[in-house]
Amino acid sequence: MKLLIIEDEKITRISLSNTLKKEGYDVFSAKDGEEGMAIFNSKLPDVVITDLRLPKLSGIDILNNVRLIAPSCKVILITAYATVDTAVTALKTGAYDYLTKPFSPDKVLSVLRNISQLQSVIYENRALKNKLSLLEDKSIIGNSPSIKKLKETINQIAMNDSTILIEGESGTGKEMVARALHKASPRRNESFIAISCSSIPESLLESELFGHEKGAFTGAVKKHVGYFERANKGTLFIDDIDDFPLSMQVKLLRVIQERELAPIGGSENINIDVRIICATKLDLRKQVDNNLFRQDLFYRLNIIPLKIPPLRDRKEDIPMLVEHFFRKHLAEDKIMLLNKNVYSELMRYDWPGNVRELENIVERMIALSFSGEIDPTILDLTYYTGKFGKRAESFEKFNSLDHFLSEKEKEIIQWALNKSQNNISQAAKLLRIPRTTLNSKLDRLLPDVKH
Ligand SMILES: Nc1ncnc2c1ncn2[C@@H]1O[C@H](COP(=O)(O)OP(=O)(O)OP(=O)(O)O)[C@@H](O)[C@H]1O
Ligand SMILES: [Mg+2]
Repeated sequence: MKLLIIEDEKITRISLSNTLKKEGYDVFSAKDGEEGMAIFNSKLPDVVITDLRLPKLSGIDILNNVRLIAPSCKVILITAYATVDTAVTALKTGAYDYLTKPFSPDKVLSVLRNISQLQSVIYENRALKNKLSLLEDKSIIGNSPSIKKLKETINQIAMNDSTILIEGESGTGKEMVARALHKASPRRNESFIAISCSSIPESLLESELFGHEKGAFTGAVKKHVGYFERANKGTLFIDDIDDFPLSMQVKLLRVIQERELAPIGGSENINIDVRIICATKLDLRKQVDNNLFRQDLFYRLNIIPLKIPPLRDRKEDIPMLVEHFFRKHLAEDKIMLLNKNVYSELMRYDWPGNVRELENIVERMIALSFSGEIDPTILDLTYYTGKFGKRAESFEKFNSLDHFLSEKEKEIIQWALNKSQNNISQAAKLLRIPRTTLNSKLDRLLPDVKH
């Protein structure tokens, strides 16, 4: 561990430095705040032990600077009795501990031991997180024929720069596939930038993507580097491409074809070398037929289409995915708690939210399995499964918000009726509405139900 001592009293400085060196620490020392900060900046120590009252910069200034430059560095303040109050205030603002003069070498050493224990916990945590991100990055889990084929295709197309269009319902793993393509490509050490056309307001999308020069329009107070330029040499993942405004599609087409772009208000073209991967939850061809998407852009993007099938069409992958998510969430030991009915329940379900929904369910199982067996009651899929509630796959099939809401209302009422075995009073209680209200809703939504 690297330590920096900042202390103006020569005797204290030298004796403390000697004590700590003997213990095997790597020690630097400074006689005032300025010298201290200069050494800090060049050596980046793990711990700073500083006197509170110093010439030039005070101990509190040092604390504040260190917290800005290297928040993980711990600061220990040394104070004379009269300034204990200040030291207490300093603890509140982020010092690790303080020592009151005169202090014994043992006291310093015990504080340092605490810090090194704390650091090993932090390192361990970081190592675990790294392990986790490795798991996340590398593995597209699944052995179904469609996933095997998908993995093969990824390996075949990762090496070249062709534009890719990934199609799949929500939660099927589109972004994961895009990252896998980037990781398997020669661009793997360059940046991977992911954006979603649905989450950027239309009015900002152009300057976010292509950038702008200072003064290009009212409010452009400084130059802005767009996503294309930031992803240069790397991969740009454009999610929800179906939401790309029609008015700007021609500009995107030009960038893809010419491999150069002009930021808004800029006079010079910039060459860009970016691999583009797009994704959509919709059938983009239908959008073309409905004149919502330019045909020429569609053909440009769709050079290599990758379709990720919904989870309900590859249910054989479910057990592997379940185990993978237990491992990913560091609960491998809990896999054996799974009751065999859990799997059959998971296989029966239709997974409208696909793999993401499965991952959420696994997280819930982990959270709720304190010790005993994990049985299907934890899953709580009843709302969606069974003979009723087939959840809507997407909003597309509804004509309007009212239509959507009444379908949802129907589903929940059916769930309540099912749960109460068609006892209307009980169903009304479950829904927390008066019986009369339920009756009128039934008249309107489910006239076949007797009541
Ligand atoms: N085959 C798979 N193997 C392992 N993990 C998967 C797989 N498919 C999806 N996941 C995981 O499921 C989650 C959702 O995946 P991702 O975000 O890639 O989906 P998406 O299709 O981009 O969803 P959306 O359309 O909502 O943006 C992620 O945590 C991802 O790691
Ligand atoms: Mg996504």
